Order: sequence, then C-alpha cells, then structure tokens
Amino acid sequence: MTSQNSKRKTTVGVVDAGVLAYTAGRDVELDRALLEADCVGTAAHVTMLARMPKECRVLSPAEAHKVIAALVALVRRAKAGNFAITLADQDVHLAVERNLTAKLGDLGKKVHTCRSRNDQVAVDLRLFAKEELLGVLGELAALADALNDFARSHAAVPMVGRTHLQPAMPSSVGLWANAYAESLLDDAALVLAAFHLNDQCPLGAAASYGVPLPIDRQLVSDLLGFSRPVGNVLHAINSRGKLESVILGALTQVMLTVSRLAQDLVLFTMPEFGYFVLPEAFSTGSSIMPQKKNPDVLELVRSRAARVTACQTAVLDIVRSAASGYNRDLQDAKEPFMEGLAMTRATLRILAPLITGLGVNREALREGFSPEVFATDRALELVAGGMPFRDAYHHVKEHLDELQNMDPAAALARKTHLGAPAGLDFAATAARIAAVADLVTDERAEFHAALADLLGTQWPVG
Ligand code: ARG
Repeated sequence: MTSQNSKRKTTVGVVDAGVLAYTAGRDVELDRALLEADCVGTAAHVTMLARMPKECRVLSPAEAHKVIAALVALVRRAKAGNFAITLADQDVHLAVERNLTAKLGDLGKKVHTCRSRNDQVAVDLRLFAKEELLGVLGELAALADALNDFARSHAAVPMVGRTHLQPAMPSSVGLWANAYAESLLDDAALVLAAFHLNDQCPLGAAASYGVPLPIDRQLVSDLLGFSRPVGNVLHAINSRGKLESVILGALTQVMLTVSRLAQDLVLFTMPEFGYFVLPEAFSTGSSIMPQKKNPDVLELVRSRAARVTACQTAVLDIVRSAASGYNRDLQDAKEPFMEGLAMTRATLRILAPLITGLGVNREALREGFSPEVFATDRALELVAGGMPFRDAYHHVKEHLDELQNMDPAAALARKTHLGAPAGLDFAATAARIAAVADLVTDERAEFHAALADLLGTQWPVG
C-alpha cells in the first residue's frame, strides 16, 4: 500500500515505502544466492576499470586490489551468515555497494562507474547459472550411471515389454533401465546447449546501450572465465529472461524423462505388479494405515516435473511482453528460474540412490509373461521358415494356443540386433555418461581457476 507519509531513503533516492516493498519484491531474499556472483562480477569490473587508458582511468591498480580484498572479505562474511540485504538496499547489487562504501569510503562509490544494475544482474545470473548447470549435468550423469549400472546388472532379466500398458513383447529389465539412461543423455545435450548460450558475458552493456568510455568487455569476459562477451550490448540485456527460459526448457526435458521413470516405478512397485521393490528408506508410511509403504518420492517427482514446466511457462510469459531494453518485469523471472533449477537438482539427487537400491523380483517379472506375449516372436519364427509375414500373423492369431511353454530368457537371447535386449552396448552408454562427467570436471576446473586468479585466492572461497 502506498502512503504519502511513509518514505524510505535508499542508495538511489527516497521512495514511498509501499512502492519500495512492491518493487523490491522477493529480491531481498532471492538475491542472497547471487552474492558470490555479484562480488566476482564486481572484481572483474574494477580490474578492468584499473586497466583503462590513463586519461580516463577512475581507479588505480592498487585501488582495484583494495576493492577485491573487500569483496573477498564480504564473501567470507556471507559464508559465516553475516550478510543481509535490507529493503533499503532493494537488491544484492546495492547491498554490496553499501558494504564497500562503508569500508572503503569514496573508493566504494566508484565501483559502479560504467555499469548499471541491468548488466550487473545479467552477469550475476549467468555466473550463478553456470555453476548450477554444471551441478545439473553432474547430477544427471550420476543418475544416468545408476540407471545404466542397474540395467547392466539385470541385462538378462526378462520383463514384459508393454505398449498401451498392455503386454506386448518379451523385453528385459536392462532394456527398460538403459532406455532412461539414454534419454538422460539426450537431455544432457539440451542442457549443454543452454550452458553454451549462457557462457557469454553481458557486462559492459550497462543500462542496455553501452557507455561513452573505452571499457574492455573482452577483458572482463576473460577474467570471469566466460567463453566470450555477448556481441551486442542491447542483446546482452534482452537475452535476460529468454536465456532463463531456454535453460528451464532443457530442465523441463530432464524432468519429463524422470517423471515418466517415476510413473513406471509407481506402477511396477504396486503389489499387483510387484516387479520392483523400493528401498526401505524411500517408502513412506501412513498416519492411519499401519501396513502402508507409499511411493511419495516418486509421486513428488511427477509433480515437481509439472512445476518445472510451470516455471518455464512463467518465464516465457514474463519475457513475451517485455519491450527491448531493460524492463523491471525481468526481475520476476528470477524466482521461477531459481526454483526450477533447485527442484531439478534435488530430484536428480534423490533418484540416483533410489535406483541403485531398487529391488528386483524375478518371479513377479516372470509371472507377467502370458503366452500371448510371444505371439509376434512366433510369427517371425514362421517368417524365418519362409512364410509371408501377413500369413504368419493370421496363423498365430488363429492358433494362440500354440504359444504355451515359451521361454522368456530364450526369447530375449534371440533379440541380438543393435539396441535390442541382447544387443545393448552398456559400455558405450557408460562412456557417453563419463564424457558428460568429464566435461563437468574440466569446465568447473577452468571456471574456478579463472575466478581464483581474478580474486587472488582459492575459489570457492574457503
Ligand atoms: N533487482 C533488479 C532486477 O533483478 C536489478 C536491476 C534493477 N534495474 C532497474 N533499472 N531498476 O532486475
């Protein structure tokens, strides 16, 4: 509610208290996650300012060092829980400036030269996203690995393959689990594409249109470990929100994969199927029914998948109506972006040990094989003996009684072509997963080395 009597002094002017609360929104809480990125971005910016041509240099190298030391101290303080963003700050950017000015006086007031909060928040979000996406990829690789290991250990365990959820053809536990590992690898390619788009530095765009001083945007990009600066300063600002929607789109695909995995497991752990048994720690009880073992984790995986999609939809709809150049709407993309990342990562982390601990009931799986499941195999056996397929099809349809006593294991052993139950290359899947994990290790090492160089201390700050 606005009130004429209630004015609040902020770093950038006096504002009505109600307007301040409405416009700052949840930034005072959410921006705490951006503190490290904000300090690192500022360190690169002042390093660059100190290397500008002498005639327009606003900071000396010694002053830049002082600022960086204060930024490192601030990161340490935040780690110890001694950093707060106040409503008068509005957001992390002005909270950091307030802290620097309190400590360094006039020097603190110089750090915002040639910069706007618009390019500052854009770089913060990209630095934050870079670390988060490496986390996503690492956790995705761990889950894919758990699925592929599970698949390999149960490669020859027969499981009815279903279409329309009806029994269809002989299949294996290995085929089922390996399919999800491969789906996650496809999703990793999307996450990686988003990672590369994100890996461009927007700093120097300032409000949206650059500045009339010769700043070095390439240097700032290099100092922060980005692959390159965003080419056009207006695009650097316009890509905020759009980029988050691309990232959330990739995460939506990851969650789509694991939601279907969860749905399979909800079904196949039902007593009526009993194919799989959830690890003890992942079964939840009921407050009234003493016997219950519920798959709450799997159910919440499904709902979290819906929520990540909702996060992407929210961001898309926010960006859709924003004109070019900075608009405050973009601030509201922050919450769904952070939430979507957090939900995806938590989901990947909880599923990996669930898969590793999943029990397999071979008897229940075998009981799923009604004779009809072998109908197509039998028809193709007749084809191999020279009968045209359609004739074989009708023959089997009219003689379903001939399908007694078929052996599921033998049926599996005959499916040897590429990608079929007996033709799966688990080692190849494992190698593709390892390549994702290696990429995460390399990218993270390179990123952290750049930040350590910039700050002259280890990164993450100890
Ligand atoms: N907290 C703001 C955001 O997230 C920072 C940028 C504010 N810029 C402005 N022109 N009001 O978008």
